[in-house]
Amino acid sequence: MRAFRAAGLIAGLTITVLASPAFAQGKLNMYCTANEEWCKVMANEFNKKTGIDIAFTRRGTGETYAMLKAEKDNPKGDIWWGGTGDPHLQAAEEKLTVKYEPAILKELHPWAKAQWDRSGGRTVGIYMGAIGFVYNKEVAAKKGVTPPACWADLLKPEFKGEIQMPNPHSSGTAYTTIATLVQLWGEDKAFEYLKQLHASINQYTKQGPAPGQAAARGETMIAITFLHDGAMSKRRGFPVEGVAPCEGTGYEIGSMSIIDGARNLANAKRYYDFALSVDGQRLADAGESYQAPSNRGTPPSPYSPDLSKIKLIDYDFAKYGSSAERRRLLARWDAELKVGAPK
Ligand code: F6P
Repeated sequence: MRAFRAAGLIAGLTITVLASPAFAQGKLNMYCTANEEWCKVMANEFNKKTGIDIAFTRRGTGETYAMLKAEKDNPKGDIWWGGTGDPHLQAAEEKLTVKYEPAILKELHPWAKAQWDRSGGRTVGIYMGAIGFVYNKEVAAKKGVTPPACWADLLKPEFKGEIQMPNPHSSGTAYTTIATLVQLWGEDKAFEYLKQLHASINQYTKQGPAPGQAAARGETMIAITFLHDGAMSKRRGFPVEGVAPCEGTGYEIGSMSIIDGARNLANAKRYYDFALSVDGQRLADAGESYQAPSNRGTPPSPYSPDLSKIKLIDYDFAKYGSSAERRRLLARWDAELKVGAPK
């Protein structure tokens, strides 16, 4: 069984992959919002293929969106790869990212191309994944509880203090979760639920994958997370199980955008093409990432959750990907839950 590094220890650390001096072909600064393992594999393979030195930092999707805003007048990143689609759409709306129309668009699934269309070509879908719960079977058995099957189950008294989820300011996973509940039940009922759930949350983490990793280590019984992140823990041999909530659930179109003012624009476009290609997307497996790939020529991994068996809502990406809606929902979350910004 491979251990997860302690959550937060590596967050924000920039890793640079360098070509040998004879082969060096320029630079690329990537803001990476996929799993750290996958970021590394992509950076290494891109570097091997092109000789371009690539530096990346893994942060939450909300955190990265906030960075793009903060660096608007002096952009430091070239490409933003991975992360839930909503903040990519919000960045597109605010013109923090630029339009790019690669020839490879025609190879993509319609949902991935739809993301490109709705952003005016400023972002594109690279993968898809559903929100759910991941629970630690050993912890649940030790406590003698029946694992949750539905969103409603999470409010049961036996789960008090046993649930972890990320913070929606920094994490796209958490924002997707809130938007999902609002679309399932309407806003007032969703916030009533979130307030009740608050009593059972032991920690709001900064990044989305952290609760699932804590569940794998047995530090929390249940994580609200993307099911493909649970699949990663399961494949690593941890005693976890993923649950698609019985009422239905939301999903992400994980996305990629080129940052406005990118200093290495040509290299960003090369990475963009590489990340959408069949060969680029096949690297997800080596990066222990089990989302559904956006290139029609890349089959999903056998470890990927089968999205056709999950009751997915008709997620309104245009609405929940708008900056005004994000501001409004986060303000309501702050006002009603009083959790504050993540540390
Ligand atoms: O690590 C993979 C992943 O779950 C992606 O599928 C998703 O886009 C991203 O993490 C979300 O991370 P965060 O919640 O930290 O923004």
